[in-house]
Parts: sequence; structure tokens; C-alpha cells
Amino acid sequence: MRILSGIQPSGQLHIGNYFGMMQTMIAQMESSELYVFLVDLHALTSVRERDRLARGTLEAAADFLALGLDPDKCIFWVQSDVPEVCELTWVLSTIAPMGLIERCHSYKDKIAKGLSASHGLFSYPVLMAADILLYQAERVPVGKDQKQHLEVARDLAIKFNNEYGETFTVPEPAIDENTAIVPGIDGQKMSKSYGNTIPIFLEGKELKKRVMAIETDATPVEAPKDPERCNLYKILKLFASAERMAEIHRLYVEGGAAYGYLKLELLDLLNDKFGEARRRKSELLADPASLRAILGRGRDKARAKATVTLDLVRDRVGLKY
Ligand code: ADP
Ligand code: TRP
Repeated sequence: MRILSGIQPSGQLHIGNYFGMMQTMIAQMESSELYVFLVDLHALTSVRERDRLARGTLEAAADFLALGLDPDKCIFWVQSDVPEVCELTWVLSTIAPMGLIERCHSYKDKIAKGLSASHGLFSYPVLMAADILLYQAERVPVGKDQKQHLEVARDLAIKFNNEYGETFTVPEPAIDENTAIVPGIDGQKMSKSYGNTIPIFLEGKELKKRVMAIETDATPVEAPKDPERCNLYKILKLFASAERMAEIHRLYVEGGAAYGYLKLELLDLLNDKFGEARRRKSELLADPASLRAILGRGRDKARAKATVTLDLVRDRVGLKY
């Protein structure tokens, strides 16, 4: 199975990214042909500071490796290092119906959040389709928020295949319903752009501050509470064992759940889960030349695949004369 997914290096990666995508990808390293990449061209639609984007890309690379991604067991690269994706984006954009792209809600959501309305932001789903189709991906693990973009990629693959002959694999989304949307500390979807995240690599006081800031209601400790309506409960569920969650569930339903204590418990669980990865990340960042070399090897492997597809596409549409 050929599995592919990308992540924007546009800010600190958080536990929503981890459970929505990174963990799933890392777990499939042994059993699949795995493609993992950092979508810096997509990040350019929201990050206009040179250093933030460049540093963010190296940091995100370190994040993946620190969390256990083995670059020898997958293809791991930076999107812009394979320029073929831009040419495929153009070809796809010539068959992409305006209505299909206009219906994508993430554009409207991002404008509503204050991002500037650029053509790049609007055509974001076409670049994402090119990412997926260029490597003939079969499955794409993403969070629920990306489902519509996956549908665009499928529609464009089908349309191209119908018009020009069988060329692209039609990709399937892989969405884990249990962790489909990790809530942020304010209860909205956790997202880099909403300032409501728990970053994977945050430590010490900063992390504690973030955890203590998880919004909860004002119900007294002894009062029964509805666990399914509580952010803290939903986040704890990602980290605590099934046995402990059964106890916590009882405390919510019968009364006795003290938010302050549960937050400290979550803090310990976060430190246990990510402590080792944090140490590895510092080591990786201390040697940027080696990080770049890893990404360079990934680029070569990715490019070798990309050129095969693009060559076929050029031939199919008449760009080979
Ligand atoms: P962000 O919204 O923080 O900018 P991205 O859009 O870069 O995150 O998403 C990267 C990956 O992480 C995607 O597969 C996305 O679906 C997943 N993801 C992001 N936020 C969440 C979340 N809160 N819950 C589950 N998955 C998420
Ligand atoms: N749009 C995705 C996100 O914000 C990132 C992304 C870009 C992606 N290209 C991709 C994800 C290709 C999967 C496959 O999360």
C-alpha cells in the first residue's frame, strides 16, 4: 500500500497533528510504502516571514524524526525540493472546475480567521491534489478537516483519467474516527492558526501554563459532569490508559472529578509520552547539516518518483511534441 501525507511547517506541531496524522504515519513505516513531506509551498499561503518558514521547516523535520520516523524506511522530503509538483498543479488547475474549488470551506474559514485572500490560498486544494497524484498515493491519512481536500484530489484524478486516459491512482482518505478532531484548549478544533494548541515539544512552565489553561466549566468538584462535553476529558482520553479512563469516567458521572488534579495528571502523561522525543529533537537541531542531508536524500527519492508521473502527464496532455 502506498501511503502519503504532508504537514505544513507553519508553526509548532501540536497534539492534534500528532494524533490526526503523525502517529498514524509513523506506525505504518514497516508495512507500507510511506511518503511523508513538509508542505512549505502550502505554508507560504500563511507565513510571510522568511526566517519563520525556513526555521519551521527544519524544526518540523526534527519533530518527525524525533518522534520516530526513520528516513530509511520511508520517503521524507520538503515539498518545494521537488518542483515538478508546481507543473502538475498548473495542469490540474486547467481541468479543475471553478465551482469545485469555490465550494472548499477551508478557504472561507481562513479568510474569516484573517488570512489575506490570495490566489494561492484559493488554489491550495489544487496544489494538494498535485501532491497526492504526483506520487500515485493510494491512501492519505489526515484529520477530518482535510476530507474535502481529499475529495478534490479524487475528483481531479477521475476527471483527468476520463479526459486523457488512465494516468492517476484515485486516492482514498484514511480518517481515524477516534481521533478525527482533537479539541484545543478552548474547545474549538486544535489548530496552529487558532492559538489554542498544546505543542508536542513544549516543556516545563510553558507547558504547564498551557495545560492549566484548558477551558472547563464551573461545576463544583462533587457535582456530576458530562464527560463528552468536556475538553479536558477528551484530551485525557488520548493519553490515559483504558483502565484509568474508566475511573475518570466514573468520577465525571458520579461526581468527584477535580479539574485541577486531572490537569496535573495530564501534564505528567504528556511529559511521559514526549519526554524522550524532546531530548532527541534537541540533538537533531544541534546538527542542521545532518538534517539537511537526510532531507536531501528524501528529495532524490521523491523526485525519481515524481518525474515518472510528470513525464506521463506531459505526454497525455500534449506537452511532449
Ligand atoms: P493546523 O490546523 O494546526 O494548521 P494542519 O492544517 O497543518 O494543522 O494539519 C496537519 C495535519 O494534522 C492534517 O492531517 C490535519 O488533518 C491534522 N490535524 C490538524 N489539527 C488537527 C486536530 N485538531 N485534530 C486532528 N487532526 C488534526
Ligand atoms: N493541507 C494539508 C493540511 O493543512 C497539508 C497537505 C498538503 C497534505 N498536501 C498534502 C496532506 C497532501 C495530505 C496529502 O493539513
